[in-house]
Amino acid sequence: MMFPEYRPRRLRRTESLRSMVRETSVSREHLIYPMFVAPGKKLRQEISSMPGVFQLSVDMAVEEAKEAHALGLPALLLFGLPEKKDAKGSHAWIKSGIVQKAIEAIKKAVPDILVITDVCLCEYTSHGHCGLLCKVKGKGGDSVFVDNDATLELLQKIALSHARAGADMVAPSDMMDGRVGAIREALDDNGYEHIPIMSYAVKYASSFYGPFRDAAECAPQFGDRSAYQMDCANSREALREATLDMEEGADILMVKPGMPYLDIIGLLRQEFTLPIAAYQVSGEYAMIKAAAANGWLDEKRVIYESLLCFRRAGADIIITYFAKDFAQAF
Ligand code: PBG
Repeated sequence: MMFPEYRPRRLRRTESLRSMVRETSVSREHLIYPMFVAPGKKLRQEISSMPGVFQLSVDMAVEEAKEAHALGLPALLLFGLPEKKDAKGSHAWIKSGIVQKAIEAIKKAVPDILVITDVCLCEYTSHGHCGLLCKVKGKGGDSVFVDNDATLELLQKIALSHARAGADMVAPSDMMDGRVGAIREALDDNGYEHIPIMSYAVKYASSFYGPFRDAAECAPQFGDRSAYQMDCANSREALREATLDMEEGADILMVKPGMPYLDIIGLLRQEFTLPIAAYQVSGEYAMIKAAAANGWLDEKRVIYESLLCFRRAGADIIITYFAKDFAQAF
């Protein structure tokens, strides 16, 4: 016989056949919408490298949350731009901090939307690193490092302050070793056993975060984050990082960035039974936006395809700046 018995093309002939055998789908209930909250009133400042994404004052963040909820989006991820930065990042955990105020206001106005918070120091430290700095003496002079273990205590304070303000879930993104266990302990000891942790378990030292650092004004003032974030060349290390976070009590494992790392999402999907989240980061958003603005890509179709591909790779949840666009279009 000239042709094999099974001819996949037969099932692609019409849309109704195609949709009957489609293996994955994506819809708004899988999406988390990130937002940047800044001091001030009536502030809605567009980020130049992320058209369509804004720094919002708390009042405007509430309006945005209402819109997201009306569009059927289930969850927000909050990042804060503090009024003041210092070496310890102390505005990250104060009761009157920007994220703490935003959580309260949003939960009051839109109680049904899940409020997830980024737990990290880099937006709050004057040096822009994700932890406390320490000096280590060496032959050729002193060098500066991020002090992993001293940072854990501060992360505990931040997570706790978010839970106290009413956050539904915390998402540590700093990549310090032991942070998930430390945060779990702090939450449990203070009556927040029910608050889950979505861990940025596998976060690479990526150049795709560039526009985010404009948005959150948190570019490191010296050096880079490669001492604590992962080497883009590694995938076995991703399994080790994810295993540690799972053992420390993470409820959801995240991979970040997204599109260039679909293999890592696939790998984690095969090895873990925990839910997996993927972060379509600022640089991925900016690339699609820039190409679409030039008429080089069909924005709507590319948004759909990119999010569907995350699901095919194995992500349960996708964090994306396109969440509202997706919910409006599909
Ligand atoms: C903070 C943090 C970053 C992102 C999320 N949380 C920046 C970084 O690690 O430098 C990046 C998100 C994005 O690019 O959209 N640690």
